[in-house]
Amino acid sequence: MLKLGVNIDHVATVREARYHGQNRGEPDPVEAALICEQAGAHGITVHLREDRRHIQDRDVIRLRGVIKTRLNLEMANTPEIVAFALKLKPDIVCVVPERRQELTTEGGLDAAGQKEALKEARKRLNDSGIEVSLFIDPEPQQVEASASVGAQFIELHTGTFAEHFSEAGARDLEIARLVAAARQARHLGLKVNAGHGLNFQNVPALGRVPHLVELNIGHSLVSRAISVGLGEAVREMLRAMETYRG
Ligand code: PXP
Repeated sequence: MLKLGVNIDHVATVREARYHGQNRGEPDPVEAALICEQAGAHGITVHLREDRRHIQDRDVIRLRGVIKTRLNLEMANTPEIVAFALKLKPDIVCVVPERRQELTTEGGLDAAGQKEALKEARKRLNDSGIEVSLFIDPEPQQVEASASVGAQFIELHTGTFAEHFSEAGARDLEIARLVAAARQARHLGLKVNAGHGLNFQNVPALGRVPHLVELNIGHSLVSRAISVGLGEAVREMLRAMETYRG
């Protein structure tokens, strides 16, 4: 069965928009993670960014203590965050590229260009019992490099697939690249996840990509939660206002 890892970063994005720097506030990403688990999610994903724009250290530490499924920590390969991961011990780390200016993770990791640094981090993380995944574009040299780094997983970047989903030609080309990368990865002994830009419309088309273990999905789930949950929130507020007699 294809597993679902829920990326809860955007829950923290909403909180930080109001409470940044206050070490408190709603919505609580940890509460959101528990709701996701109760609904059947197989894992919780968070990206602890160097600029801490959404998820904060305290969120990740609390998550580690309470979630019952798997904690997937997305992170850049920097000494500070690797040290944090070694202390935290998530079940799995997904190494992503990171540029401060970007709105979200924009391209895959250049695994081929930083094999030695990745190998060293991979080894330290594995020695601590943490599995390692590399978030890469579906390109043969990146899959090859991920295997030579010794990663257990790759996460195929589905951003281009998602972006071109409504153009049949470009979409089919991108699916073909994902299929080839998944086959190559499997052949090299890598397990294959996928994520970025996945939503209710485009996920079914990934049925053509073999060997997928888990999809990591964030934005579309948090968006959908607003559509299906805002009405209930309004009803609750109206009930809270019912006692007004002024
Ligand atoms: N996987 C990785 C490695 C990511 O960086 C992201 C975005 O933070 C996701 C999955 C989830 O992407 P989305 O929010 O578009 O579903």
